[in-house]
Amino acid sequence: MNSVVDELLIWYEQQKRNLPWRNDINPYHVWISEIMLQQTRIEAVIPYYERFMKELPIISSLASVDEDFLMKLWEGLGYYNRARNLKKAAIKIMNEYDGIFPNTYSEIIKLPGIGEYTASAISSICFGEKQVTVDGNVMRVFTRFYNDSSNISKNNTKKKIHDKLLSILPVDVGNFNQALMELGEVVCIPNGIPKCNDCPLRRSCQSYKNSNYFLYPVKDDKKVKEEIEMTILLLIWKNKVFVRKRKQAGLLHGLYEFPNIVGYKSMSEIEKLSSQFGDVGSVKKSICYTHVFTHKKWNMQAYFVFLESVNCRSLFYSVSNIEKNFALPTAFSPFFCQLKEELK
Ligand code: ADE
Repeated sequence: MNSVVDELLIWYEQQKRNLPWRNDINPYHVWISEIMLQQTRIEAVIPYYERFMKELPIISSLASVDEDFLMKLWEGLGYYNRARNLKKAAIKIMNEYDGIFPNTYSEIIKLPGIGEYTASAISSICFGEKQVTVDGNVMRVFTRFYNDSSNISKNNTKKKIHDKLLSILPVDVGNFNQALMELGEVVCIPNGIPKCNDCPLRRSCQSYKNSNYFLYPVKDDKKVKEEIEMTILLLIWKNKVFVRKRKQAGLLHGLYEFPNIVGYKSMSEIEKLSSQFGDVGSVKKSICYTHVFTHKKWNMQAYFVFLESVNCRSLFYSVSNIEKNFALPTAFSPFFCQLKEELK
């Protein structure tokens, strides 16, 4: 196994991608990147990471950031509690660790929003602690390498992989962990044909030998998502648009939205619903769009509603003001594009 580990480390040293959080070994940088990378692809994360570091370059700046601004920096990444937990953790680091990122797994895991994977990643990459990172990439590489048909949705499979990797962990733990993840992301890819000719492990890989990579990993079937039909009101008054803050609890809480109602509504129902905002001039059908969340799907039909007068002027904003200052979830961004076109 030693030679396989060595070949992996050599491959990583030669092939690793030049990513902005790899320019130095700074736990703040690694932490932010690891949180952003949960559920998001590397290419999508890079611009977010760069903007985040430009605006909040040190832990103290994150600890004191305004919540709406933080949501704006996170807009489009989804799973917005990740960002809220970053701020909570930064406050804890300022208060309990004099602003210095803790340097052991057992302290790091006590921070809000940090689980076993992230604590292992930060402590191994930044402090050389003997911890292994087992994410989806690592499990894919592992089960293909061994032709292991254990179900990776089960905790005991994860534990087995964890323990096996711990037993072969080299001194260079941070690079080993990153190399395995990198291999899963760029070579032993999840969708499509893996690039076995580029793989440093192929000579020992069972899936390569048996040409059966597609059998691995074995995992639970995806759950069927609940589908919700919704009507979205794009209220326009004097070239301005109505947005409001979502409730402080539940899905996408604290972000901004266009008024929305469960169910598809008729034109006359839409006129009636819109009249609470002011005098309705005309209504026009806009686009429909489906947004898929982890557990549900929103099937949305939007309407432009042109108002002649409004009850609350202060809730109508120009497109550029919304663009600059309000965090709109990705679920609503296609409608915002339509509004921009309409008001051009
Ligand atoms: N994916 C998530 N974290 C990573 C890292 N540190 N290196 C490579 N791929 C990753």
